[in-house]
Amino acid sequence: MAGGAARAGMVLRAVAALAAPAGAADAAYGEYLAAECSTCHLRSGDFKGIPSIVGLPEADFIAALRAYRDRSRENVVMQTIAKSLSDADMAALAAYYHRLGTKR
Ligand code: HEC
Repeated sequence: MAGGAARAGMVLRAVAALAAPAGAADAAYGEYLAAECSTCHLRSGDFKGIPSIVGLPEADFIAALRAYRDRSRENVVMQTIAKSLSDADMAALAAYYHRLGTKR
């Protein structure tokens, strides 16, 4: 039925909005959020044990932040930071840092 299909479409879009890699608008928000990250994560590469996060695949980037947030990945600093990030924040940051990497 058309109604059912429309409802299914809405559910799919809602799920996609939660899980999908972010688009251009989100990358702009990610740039704003990244001010907090750039004190440690330099654009130029690894620095004193802090890995570069530029150009990471968005899915890997989000998976890492989620792992810190649910404490399945150990690192006190990143756990504290990830705790304050929503899924939308993580997606925006992932989009921004991914674009930084592909622009070079
Ligand atoms: C105080 C320093 C510091 C700040 C600020 C910081 N990080 Fe990190 N980050 C680290 C360190 C150190 C690691 C490596 C931890 C480990 O070994 O798991 C890391 C790891 C990561 C990783 C995993 C990288 C990989 O290759 O697996 C991601 C993604 C990440 N940070 C994202 C962010 C984001 C996004 C922000 C800003 C919201 C941020 N970090 C802010 C120090 C920092």
